[in-house]
Amino acid sequence: MVQTRLETVLACPHCGTALQSKDAGTAALKGELLEGELVCEKHHTFPVKDGIAAFCVPLKNKYEEEIFGQFYLQTHYRDWIAKAASKDQLATFDLPGFFTRGDSSYYTDLFTIFGGVLSKASTVVDLGCSVGRLTFECARHAGQVIGIDPSQLHIRHARDILRTKELHVTLGQSQNAYAGEKTLTLHIPVMIPTRNVEFFVGDDASLPFADASIDMIISSAVIDRVLDAEVFIRHCSRILKPHGHILLTAPFNWQEIFTPPEKWLGKGGYGTPNGSPEKALDALMKCHGYRRIRAQNIPWQTHCDQRYFFMWSIYAALFQKI
Ligand SMILES: C[S@@+](CC[C@H](N)C(=O)[O-])C[C@H]1O[C@@H](n2cnc3c(N)ncnc32)[C@H](O)[C@@H]1O
Ligand SMILES: [Zn+2]
Repeated sequence: MVQTRLETVLACPHCGTALQSKDAGTAALKGELLEGELVCEKHHTFPVKDGIAAFCVPLKNKYEEEIFGQFYLQTHYRDWIAKAASKDQLATFDLPGFFTRGDSSYYTDLFTIFGGVLSKASTVVDLGCSVGRLTFECARHAGQVIGIDPSQLHIRHARDILRTKELHVTLGQSQNAYAGEKTLTLHIPVMIPTRNVEFFVGDDASLPFADASIDMIISSAVIDRVLDAEVFIRHCSRILKPHGHILLTAPFNWQEIFTPPEKWLGKGGYGTPNGSPEKALDALMKCHGYRRIRAQNIPWQTHCDQRYFFMWSIYAALFQKI
C-alpha cells in the first residue's frame, strides 16, 4: 500500500514538488494506493503496482534471484525461524545448525547503537532495507519508517510480510539449510508492529522526500555496495534534517562488481587515510559535516554449511549532522 497519509512527506526525486496519488479515486477513500501512479506538480510519474511504488528502475543483479531472496529472509529472520520451527523441522532442514546456534540477532543488537536517539515522533528511512527486518524493528520505536531498496524481489518479500502479517519462508532453499529435494514453507506470525511501515523500490539517487525532511537514516551493509560512497552520503544529506542522525554499518566487503577499487574506503578512496576503512568512513563523514556519536563492532551470522559457519564483524557507526 502507498499510504496516502505519507503524501505529506513525499516529494518528487526529480524536481522536489509534492507527490499525489492518482488512481480511479479509491486511494482517497481507502487511505492507500494499490494500483496507479504517484504524480508530481511537474508531471513526473512513478508507477504503483500491487501496492509498491517504484522510484528507480530495479537493478538486474543477484539481488533479484529468488534463491538469494530466501537467503536474505533466512538471514534477517533467523531468530524468528528458530523460535517458530519445531525441533523435528529443524532437525530435517537445519543440518548445519544455522538457526539454532547463538541467540542474538544483528538486527536487534544494532539498537544498542541507535535506539536511544529514536522517538515516536521520528520519521526514519531504512536505505537498502532488503527484506525489511531492520525496518520492522525500527517501527517499534519510531513514528514512521520507510524501507527503500532497488531490488524489486526483496521489496516484494518485505511487503508480503507487511500485507499478510506473516513471514513465509521456504527452508530447503538457499545455502542456510539442508538443500535437498524437499522444502518446507513456514508461516510465522509477525512479532512487531507494521502499521507505521511502508516499502518502496528506490535507491539513494531517487529518494522521494523533500530536502531536510527526515529525522534519521539507517543503512545497514549498503555503503560497500554502492558505486560511490561519497555520492551516496550526499544524497542522504539532502533529505536529512539539521542535527538528524545516520547509522551506517559495513563489513567493508568491497567487490569490483559493485564499487570501482579507487572508491574503496580504507584503500585511499576520496583521499581518505589508507589502511583502516573505519577511519576512512569517519573522515569522509567529517568532511560532509557529521560528527560520530558512537561506534561498535557487531557480530552478524549470515550463512553456513556443514563445514563452516560464517560470522562477520560489522562496523556500525552513528553520526549526527552538525
Ligand atoms: C548486503 S545487502 C544489506 C541489506 C540489509 N540492509 C541488511 O542489513 O541485511 C545490500 C542491499 O543494498 C541494496 N542497494 C544496492 N545499491 C543500493 C543503492 N544505490 N541505494 C540503496 N540500496 C542499495 C541492495 O539491493 C541490497 O538489498
Ligand atoms: Zn517532479
